[in-house]
Amino acid sequence: MSFEHVDFAELYRSDPGVISRAEHPPEFWDGRAAGFGERAARSEYGRQFVERMDLDGCSTLLDVGCGPGTIALAVAGRLERVYGLDYSPRMLDAFSERAKAAGHSNATPILRAWADDWSDVPVCDVVVASRATAVRDFEAAARKLDAVAARRVYLTYPAFGTFAGDGIRRALGRPHHPLPDYLHIVGILHHLGMHPRLDYITEKGRFDGCEGFEAFVGKVRGLTGDLSGAEADVVRQYYETHRGELAAERMRWAFISWDAAPRR
Ligand SMILES: C[S@@+](CC[C@H](N)C(=O)[O-])C[C@H]1O[C@@H](n2cnc3c(N)ncnc32)[C@H](O)[C@@H]1O
Repeated sequence: MSFEHVDFAELYRSDPGVISRAEHPPEFWDGRAAGFGERAARSEYGRQFVERMDLDGCSTLLDVGCGPGTIALAVAGRLERVYGLDYSPRMLDAFSERAKAAGHSNATPILRAWADDWSDVPVCDVVVASRATAVRDFEAAARKLDAVAARRVYLTYPAFGTFAGDGIRRALGRPHHPLPDYLHIVGILHHLGMHPRLDYITEKGRFDGCEGFEAFVGKVRGLTGDLSGAEADVVRQYYETHRGELAAERMRWAFISWDAAPRR
């Protein structure tokens, strides 16, 4: 079969990793807003994302799945207006509070989900979706991003379909299917005629800076939820065996961008 005949959009939609992935309600992210807000300010990942963006000739930016504004607020001082779109009210509170603390009066929150109607979402020069593309239908999401972009779109997607923490998941007998590889995304965008550009961002893994077993088990609970007594023993054993390697785990993101179609 030739490349042109591979239906990447359907491969993505029907992938076991996509189908089996939990669809979190906004409350899931509400509960994580405080931690994300703290990390956003000193985010090495955010710095790498921003340095790969071209803002020449741009005055507006829309940050989809903005969280506490990791990307939008990092560039708010260089633009006329930035918008943060998210379905979590607490994330948007963090976005607004961080904007105020930094003296940015040009940051506007938009309470909205990927699946909602976006017909009143403002078209912006730059549209970004950073670590926020966990959608069931990537083709539909890409079309949506493109429709609100006047110049350029930037997004990140797990580079090898997986997040750090696979080792302990397997040890617990709770492996999860990896997401489709990022090359599916490149294929989808190629078929949509979007001519994607590709780069990578590497950030510290989930367990970096975990000082001691209690910190480690806390992070594991963040991944898996409550642990039974037997599972806690597995986590302890895993920690004893792997503690020297945990800090070296890295999360790799594909950084994908394209130029938006000229507005009709
Ligand atoms: C991993 S955080 C990323 C936050 C920020 N973009 C960053 O890179 O730090 C994912 C964000 O996407 C938002 N999100 C998840 N699913 C969403 C959906 N269906 N619609 C809108 N936002 C969503 C969450 O509320 C959260 O703020």
